Amino acid sequence: MRVAMIGTGYVGLVSGACFSEFGVDVTCVDKDQVKIDMLEDGRMPIYEPGLEELVIKNVASGHLSFTTDLKEGVHGADAIFIAVGTPSRRGDGHADLSYVYEAAREIAEALRDYTVVVTKSTVPVGTGREVERIIAETRPNLEFDVVSNPEFLREGSAIEDFMRPDRIVIGTKSDRAQEIMRQLYRPLYLIETPIVFTSRQTSELIKYAANTFLATKITFINEIADLCELVEADVQDVARGIGLDGRIGRKFLHAGPGYGGSCFPKDTLALARTAQEAGRPLRIVDTVVKVNADRKTQMAEKIIAACGDDISSKTIAILGVTFKPNTDDMRESPSIDIIAGLQRAGAKVRAYDPEGMQEAQTLLDNVQWCDDAYQAMAGAHAVTIVTEWNQFRALDLQRMKEVMRSPIIVDLRNIYNPSEIAEAGFRYYSVGRAATGCAD
Ligand code: UDX
Repeated sequence: MRVAMIGTGYVGLVSGACFSEFGVDVTCVDKDQVKIDMLEDGRMPIYEPGLEELVIKNVASGHLSFTTDLKEGVHGADAIFIAVGTPSRRGDGHADLSYVYEAAREIAEALRDYTVVVTKSTVPVGTGREVERIIAETRPNLEFDVVSNPEFLREGSAIEDFMRPDRIVIGTKSDRAQEIMRQLYRPLYLIETPIVFTSRQTSELIKYAANTFLATKITFINEIADLCELVEADVQDVARGIGLDGRIGRKFLHAGPGYGGSCFPKDTLALARTAQEAGRPLRIVDTVVKVNADRKTQMAEKIIAACGDDISSKTIAILGVTFKPNTDDMRESPSIDIIAGLQRAGAKVRAYDPEGMQEAQTLLDNVQWCDDAYQAMAGAHAVTIVTEWNQFRALDLQRMKEVMRSPIIVDLRNIYNPSEIAEAGFRYYSVGRAATGCAD
């Protein structure tokens, strides 16, 4: 089988590399010549564990290739995946579909025989219909089907998520298109991955409903965490206690500084807008969006309070700036608002992140970027863990005390044991658990 992947962002590149690993011939197309040159050289435009090896291996075996020429890339493809970006449109929160529609037009011009055109980008309900209309308008006599096939991969574990998904969702009523999609996903079908066949609109909505549900679950536990702090309860025990109920489930109940990333903030907002336009606002989703946005500022206030309410002449060390570990992605990362909040209150910020600093430097001003965690903590009045990179999970507490000006830790990811940290002589503040070491 042969597929073309339009767009070499997270979704397109990972999906393309993974399909080629299944033995499918994949051509990834992107307009960005620099990106294509890098990929042909075996260098990745994003940091994603395992991706580079997969790309190099499949380029060498001849199953994976890259081009900027869409016409050449889609030639002979059984299926063409549209995996271009759908960022939030400035001002109104709607997903910006201009790249999707432009790709549809270009694909239509290049097609020769029956082809399945698949939307893999997260697109609002009704986008498939519009893509179909554009292709039919451009090429009135062409045989084709437009299928929705959303991707559920997480950054940092994208390859594993693609290779071992919980389910595959395929939105089309065409038997011919269903058969091609079934063949493409045959290796996953063999490992008994459930495949949900449904209508295009339903498939489009499934993606938004899934991401919004997860964002709601996180926001729920974050609010419970705030309550825990006030009533002397422990949010991690609450999460375990409710998560063991099979109807609730244990995943995505980790309290923290609020969700970020390229998907949850954008998709919650886009779903809220879709619902408003349909005349049926989703009040829960509207609230989730607001609570999560407020939470980031609230986290800066938490740090300021931990430092005794005045940080105007203090230095705060920040460990981790990406929205989650194992990525260099800074999109909607809580660190952005937290650092801005600390700086507004007059603090000097020193920071370290294993992968995100290059990207972060373009977004954050006046931060002293450091070579490692201890350098970031040198002379700091407090340290805040914003992203739970593994290398921050076993910091040398003795060394921290030696380099820091005062022993205060604000752990926004709950990666340490409160009593152990207090015993080591720190004041320790986390999320949804009692502060420790603060007896004086
Ligand atoms: C998410 C979805 O999980 C994925 O299915 C979809 O395709 C894209 O969006 P991703 O954004 O890569 O994936 O990261 P994810 O691991 O879901 O985390 C998103 C945000 O939620 C991060 O900021 C993370 O720190 C936060 N989070 C996650 C929590 O605060 N608590 C949790 O329990 C889980």
